[in-house]
Amino acid sequence: MRVMDITRVCVVGGGTMGNGIAHVFALKGFETTLVEAKKELADKALATIAGNLDRQAAKGVIAATDKDAALARLKTALSPAQAKGFHLAVEAVSENLELKKRIFRDLDEAAAPGAILATNTSSLPVTELASVVKDPSRVIGMHFMNPVPVMKLVEIIRGLQTSDETHAAIHALTLKLGKTPALAKDFPGFISNRVLMPMINEAITCLHEGVSSREDIDTIMKLGMAHPMGPLQLADYIGLDVCLAIMGVLHEGFGDSKYRPSPLLKQMVQAGRLGVKSGAGFYDYPKK
Ligand code: CAA
Repeated sequence: MRVMDITRVCVVGGGTMGNGIAHVFALKGFETTLVEAKKELADKALATIAGNLDRQAAKGVIAATDKDAALARLKTALSPAQAKGFHLAVEAVSENLELKKRIFRDLDEAAAPGAILATNTSSLPVTELASVVKDPSRVIGMHFMNPVPVMKLVEIIRGLQTSDETHAAIHALTLKLGKTPALAKDFPGFISNRVLMPMINEAITCLHEGVSSREDIDTIMKLGMAHPMGPLQLADYIGLDVCLAIMGVLHEGFGDSKYRPSPLLKQMVQAGRLGVKSGAGFYDYPKK
């Protein structure tokens, strides 16, 4: 599949990442189908996209007519089979390898001939996901960053069998979306999370050891290193369960104790303090 042949896109999963990805494809002119297993979840994702498009229109980032055109290009479906005939799929469901493999098998059946199957996984092996489809050369990682409509990066991950043609198409497509591609090979955590998560984990260890307060740790990294959010605030934003799962992938994947998850991170997850989404993490997020 060449980039100019990609006009119909299927995004699987309407959560934070999936709705952001569908938002960007629809805004950039692609016929986009968002797949969610339940109608209520699909409706919720559409409402979130409409709200974020309003936010962009209110700020003058897009015109009001762009919002209407994007929404007109966006459909929902309850399964990949219903979305049939797409040229590119981007899977963005939760980080569960067995679930993702099942979805990849379904996408393989429903895709147009030669379609590219991409995963937005933040750390699971692209090569292993590719092993369940007929042609693993057409599988690739397309790792978007949260919030997707705002963040410029797409980390592209080549699995062991990803072809040059697939990589070239996804590189060009990323530029078409107005984003910047950066390439990584398929090793645990790729580049983004191999570098980011140990920093977050170390900040949590500093808090656990009483080296500093949560506010001062975040202030040091925000003002000292020009990060938009401090590491503890960012961990809450990403989700502490997600951070713990990624540290687990690094720890197991490299078998190196330097990736040991902080006991405090584990305990926060055990307590259900998952960050912004649960209303509390290192900070509190009272319902508005
Ligand atoms: N959709 C559309 N626009 C959005 C948006 C969304 N979902 N979320 C924020 N925005 C826009 C706002 O409208 C605003 O626009 P203007 O600049 O035109 O005013 C802009 O983004 C900034 O938002 P806010 O004013 O609300 O707040 P802010 O200035 O504090 O910025 C932030 C918020 C963009 C999230 C910023 O704090 C930031 O960049 N944080 C770091 C984010 C980050 O590191 N993301 C990567 C996480 S790691 C990951 O995603 C991958 C992984 O595998 C774990």
